[in-house]
Amino acid sequence: MAIPPESESLSMNVPRRVGLWLIGAHGGVGSTTALGLAALARGQILPTGMVTALPEFAHVIFDEPAAFVIGGHELRPTTFAESIAELKSRSNIFSEAVIAATAEQLSEWDANICPARTNDGPALAAVDAMAADIRAFQRQYDLAAIVVINVASTEPVCDSTAYPTEALAFESWLERSGTTVPASTLAAWAAVRAGCAYVNLTPSLGGRFAAFEDHCRRYGIPHGGQDAKTGETLLKSVLAPMFRMRNLRVLSWVGHNILGNRDGQVLSDPANKASKLRTKDALLAEMLGYRPQSHVSIEYIESLDDWKTAWDHIHFEGFLGVKMTLQLTWQGCDSALAAPLVIDLARLALLARQRGHIGAIPALACFFKSPIGTTVHELSQQYEMLCEYVLRVDL
Ligand SMILES: NC(=O)c1ccc[n+]([C@@H]2O[C@H](COP(=O)([O-])OP(=O)(O)OC[C@H]3O[C@@H](n4cnc5c(N)ncnc54)[C@H](O)[C@@H]3O)[C@@H](O)[C@H]2O)c1
Repeated sequence: MAIPPESESLSMNVPRRVGLWLIGAHGGVGSTTALGLAALARGQILPTGMVTALPEFAHVIFDEPAAFVIGGHELRPTTFAESIAELKSRSNIFSEAVIAATAEQLSEWDANICPARTNDGPALAAVDAMAADIRAFQRQYDLAAIVVINVASTEPVCDSTAYPTEALAFESWLERSGTTVPASTLAAWAAVRAGCAYVNLTPSLGGRFAAFEDHCRRYGIPHGGQDAKTGETLLKSVLAPMFRMRNLRVLSWVGHNILGNRDGQVLSDPANKASKLRTKDALLAEMLGYRPQSHVSIEYIESLDDWKTAWDHIHFEGFLGVKMTLQLTWQGCDSALAAPLVIDLARLALLARQRGHIGAIPALACFFKSPIGTTVHELSQQYEMLCEYVLRVDL
């Protein structure tokens, strides 16, 4: 059953070609990733914001940006050019020169974006259809390997506790019961069936349940997630350890987030917002060792477009019971923060696949709000885990 990692290119001089299959390809993160990869491949931009481009990883053989071909699934009938034009006009990001120089490449990649298959009849039929799309993409470009990354809209919280814990039992349960599972889960299942590494950048369920881990083990596939840590939660994972290390007691931590992009619009639905709030709020107690009063809110404010703003108010107590406050504001461009991490995760998941890694990759924790396979949330510890994993030479 296990699909072996692809063999190296026959000639050492011919770099392999690899695929990045994006679920939700034409969204803000997907389109910015495509634009960025095309611009990097042309040497038009620097890899600023990419962790895999740090000097400590200079000797690691990652797939170069020029090696990537983009494909994917998308719900809306649109193009990369349209999505990028929308981001540019609404949020005033991206240079005209980069857009013009990459236009031809992006339009070529548009032809690889298939309509979402989640309504293709029964669940397993949709899985088969998605896996077939991915395999056709692999054949068309003769790709050595593909990584599937979920950058689709956030889904409502899903209780997966009733799911059977073994892959085959899960499949027959799906078939028998006609139960519906989230679209992100069907896409994750399809990715593994097609022999691809899988990463979930969103708070949606995707592959975060026991039967999926079993599915990956049966096919010999690595996977990672969940919910990229790009703004307020990233700051929390740096600041909370500081309070703990100074023995300053955090009394309360309040974070208000406002954003106006399509993700913000989706999150304005309370069912979808609950997924995000859950992943954003969970890590404080883990890092501090106690649970201070906390509150996280996310509101859709249309005029802000892609410029997500977070205000944090941290009330803490020091020596002799003196109460003090830290307040901060973070204003980040959502897509520009997330896209380099998509490229990093693609390179790292493909490296893991090449090394024969099977199952969850805890070493990717520094990229996620709810890392799979570890409870470590401190950014510095997570970064050490990443370095240790990437730089080890015994694999
Ligand atoms: N930008 C960040 O900083 C950041 C950080 C962490 C997580 N995320 C997550 O990344 C995801 C994408 O964010 P975005 O700003 O690009 O959102 P977006 O709304 O711009 O893009 C999502 C895209 O997914 C498509 N889509 C929805 N369901 C689909 C399906 N079943 N199959 C295929 N396509 C589907 C939509 O049509 C849309 O084009 C969201 O879940 C968001 O929460 C973003």
